[in-house]
Amino acid sequence: MPVIVFASSKGGAGKTTACTILACEIAKQGKDKNIGVSVIDADPERNLSAWAKMEGRPENIRLFDDVTENNILDVIEEAQRQTPFVLVDLEGVASNTVTFALSQASLVIIPCQASQMDANKAVKVIKMIKNSSRMIGREIPFAVLFNRLSAAIITKTGRHLAEEFEGSGIDVFKCSLIERESFKSIFSFGGSIYTLGAKNKREQESIDKAGDNAKLFTEEVKRRLKQDIKPIEETRRTANG
Ligand SMILES: Nc1ncnc2c1ncn2[C@@H]1O[C@H](COP(=O)(O)OP(=O)(O)O)[C@@H](O)[C@H]1O
Ligand SMILES: [Mg+2]
Repeated sequence: MPVIVFASSKGGAGKTTACTILACEIAKQGKDKNIGVSVIDADPERNLSAWAKMEGRPENIRLFDDVTENNILDVIEEAQRQTPFVLVDLEGVASNTVTFALSQASLVIIPCQASQMDANKAVKVIKMIKNSSRMIGREIPFAVLFNRLSAAIITKTGRHLAEEFEGSGIDVFKCSLIERESFKSIFSFGGSIYTLGAKNKREQESIDKAGDNAKLFTEEVKRRLKQDIKPIEETRRTANG
C-alpha cells in the first residue's frame, strides 16, 4: 500500500496544500469504489488536522493526528491496514519524525515554489532523503513539485530551475500546482474545492480549473507509484550497465 510523504526543509512550500488536494482527489475518485485515503498529520502546527476537523471533509478520508516521533511508524502501519492510500504531511524541519516517515515512503513529494531560495531548500531535503535511502538500503523515490505557479505564464526563473533540477538528475513533476484561490479557501471553509460553491460563472470556472489541476496532479502521482521500487544494489547495477 503506497505511503506518500510530503517533505521540504522549509515551511510554506505547500506540503499541507498539496497533501490535502491529493487526498480530496483520491477520495473523490475512490468514493464509489469504497476506496479510502488516510491523512497523517505529523506536523506540530496541525494545519492538516484543523482542515480535517472542519465540516465537509470527504467521508472516505481518515485523519490520524496526535502523531509524534514515538508513534509515527505505528500510525503509518495502522493507516496502511485501514486504507489503500496513506499520505503523510510533515513539518518543514529535520527531525526524527521526518526521518522515520521518509523510511516508509513509496514516494516523497517535495513542493517547491519557483524561486532560487526555495530550490536551494529543496536540494537540502533531497540530501536528507538520499541519506535515509542509504541508511535503510533501499531507494526512496522522490520528485520536486513546483507549486504556486502563475496560471498565465511560465516564468524565466521557473524554467531555469526546472532545467537545473533535471540537469542534476533530480526528478521533477511534469505537472505543477497553480496558484488558485480555491486551494487556499478550503482551509477557511473546510471540505474540498468541489464543496466550496461558486457565486458566479467566473468563480465556477476558477474552481473547474483547480479541479483539472488536482486531477492532473493525482494522475501523475498514481503513474509514479506504479514504477518499480528497486533495492539500491539493483539500481547501481542498472546504472553501471
Ligand atoms: N497552489 C496554491 N494556491 C494558492 N495558495 C497556496 C498554494 N499552495 C500553497 N498556498 C498557500 O501558501 C501558504 C503555505 O502553504 P502550506 O501548504 O501551508 O505550506 P507548508 O505546509 O509547506 O508549510 C498557505 O497560506 C497556503 O494557503
Ligand atoms: Mg504544513
